[in-house]
Amino acid sequence: MPPRLAESFDNVIRRKGYSNRSEAVRDIVRRFLVEEEWAEQSAEVVGTVTLVYDHHVHDLAEALTDLQHRSHNQVICSQHVHLDEHNCLETVVLRGEASAVRKIADQLIAARGVKHGQLVCTTTGREL
Ligand code: NI
Repeated sequence: MPPRLAESFDNVIRRKGYSNRSEAVRDIVRRFLVEEEWAEQSAEVVGTVTLVYDHHVHDLAEALTDLQHRSHNQVICSQHVHLDEHNCLETVVLRGEASAVRKIADQLIAARGVKHGQLVCTTTGREL
């Protein structure tokens, strides 16, 4: 590894609290493997979707619930938090084929009235 690259790497891992390079490399390799799982459309993956929306937006809460019911095979659970009088936060845990999980997440995030949505792509952990 070029010395400057190693130095930059060491600075970052120190800041992030890794005790040594191999600990950091291990995490990076795992992240890489999880990304590859997601690239394989039929691989079984786990994902969490976080949504923030205004429940006063007409039909939105119902549309989000409908979407989850239609994907009941992939939806493991959901959690709803009333952030204030208007805003809700919902997290949905999904498990299934990467292509299916991504599609459900995209539909939830794209629903009209969702202010912010994000999919975290993670793993069943079995291959790590
Ligand atoms: Ni709410």
